[in-house]
Amino acid sequence: MSEKPWDGRFAEKTDRIVESFTSSVAFDRRLYLYDIKGSIAHCRMLAKQSIISDEDASQIVEGLGRIARDIEHGNFELDESLEDIHMNIEARLIGEVGRVAQKLHTARSRNDQVVLDIRLYLRDEVANILNSLTGLRQALVALAKRHIDVIMPGYTHLQPAQPVLFSHHLMAYYEMFKRDRARFKEALKRINVMPLGSAALAGTTYPIDVGYTAKLLKFPEVFANSLDAVSSRDFIMEFLAAASICMVHMSRLSEELILWSSAEFGFVEIPDAFATGSSIMPQKKNPDVPELVRGKAGRVFGNLMALLTLMKGLPLSYNRDMQEDKEALFDTVDTLKVCIEVYEKLLPRLKVNRMAMEKAASSGFLNATDMADYLVTKGMAFRDAHRCVGEVVRYAMDQNKELQDLSLGDLKKFSKAFEEDIFEILTLQQMVSRRVSPGGTAKENVVNAINEAQEALKLEVAEDKSHKRKRKTTS
Ligand code: ARG
Repeated sequence: MSEKPWDGRFAEKTDRIVESFTSSVAFDRRLYLYDIKGSIAHCRMLAKQSIISDEDASQIVEGLGRIARDIEHGNFELDESLEDIHMNIEARLIGEVGRVAQKLHTARSRNDQVVLDIRLYLRDEVANILNSLTGLRQALVALAKRHIDVIMPGYTHLQPAQPVLFSHHLMAYYEMFKRDRARFKEALKRINVMPLGSAALAGTTYPIDVGYTAKLLKFPEVFANSLDAVSSRDFIMEFLAAASICMVHMSRLSEELILWSSAEFGFVEIPDAFATGSSIMPQKKNPDVPELVRGKAGRVFGNLMALLTLMKGLPLSYNRDMQEDKEALFDTVDTLKVCIEVYEKLLPRLKVNRMAMEKAASSGFLNATDMADYLVTKGMAFRDAHRCVGEVVRYAMDQNKELQDLSLGDLKKFSKAFEEDIFEILTLQQMVSRRVSPGGTAKENVVNAINEAQEALKLEVAEDKSHKRKRKTTS
């Protein structure tokens, strides 16, 4: 059991169960480097403002540097009874540099300290996520490019509807992940705000320079209201919401890979290195990776719900409930990152079964709309054409045939408008290549989309690199 900073006021020692119940160090330890960076910036600001002496400041900064190295090398045993990472580091600092360490906490509270740490942490993690969403989209584009001409059945209600290019289908996911990236980038604006200096809740009587601390920590913006700064977590909610939406997209992709790799579809094969077998049925190869991604979407949504629920009834400003924000956040960061990474690695190795896709697209009357559109070009109103082709479909079904297998004589029984040129219209290639409307599945559209995507990705890669360089040169 350790001494507490608040011992002066208390007549009794903290109960053991309370120490472990209230402790967060088991999980907030991951913030240690951000805590130290934040403390160093705070300390430099205090010295610049002559709130503490330069000499004290340099002792504190050196001590903090040693602690960072000790934690990194595993030479720091964290003490649960010291509650959280902030107090563990502070206690250690006293051990390192003596009583001068006690000056570090001037004009600061753990309330603004903890939210600073989370913001610094999340800012880095969002940069990583932006990066990996670029990687994931590169994998999708490369796969689309490699299989640019493959035709598959497109579905609505999971019923075969109209043929589409497999590459077009993949590029639909490219668009979803592009918006996800934009959402994280947008969330970053709200994350990247400096809260230090709000102190416990009301600000401080010391002549602090928050702009200077912000500059040291590379924050483009500083909090405007001290109560808001210590008690708001909407920047986390926004991140968790963006992560949840991104997981919806990953989960839908997973669902498709699971379906497509089933014996019934047989459209794709998941590489052996990304599948697992059964302990009892020797023939089986299971899509556990996409299944787990689909499953993990649930816990990511749960983390968003946890935070919304955690915050909804809290009066201003800080309440200890808010300590519960961290595990939800960390779990979502870890889950999202690993899911993106696993797909970045799996997708380039996905085996695509062109024959199976094209065979599936060739039966089941996927060319019925095109037949109706054909009649429209011959002067029939679309609704009449729809009914007429519906009758042709029923006839073909009775005959156990596809539309393209009927003779012109058969077709003419339904409409005089049918001519020999209908058969060209009914081929898979024509059905796809004639859909040239903007964003439609015609190959030229998909090729353009891929080219545009490649340009955009190049810019993102350059941007990510320059960010990384910037971060490196400043730390
Ligand atoms: N461990 C706490 C948290 O994560 C740090 C802030 C504690 N502040 C306080 N007034 N008890 O929220």
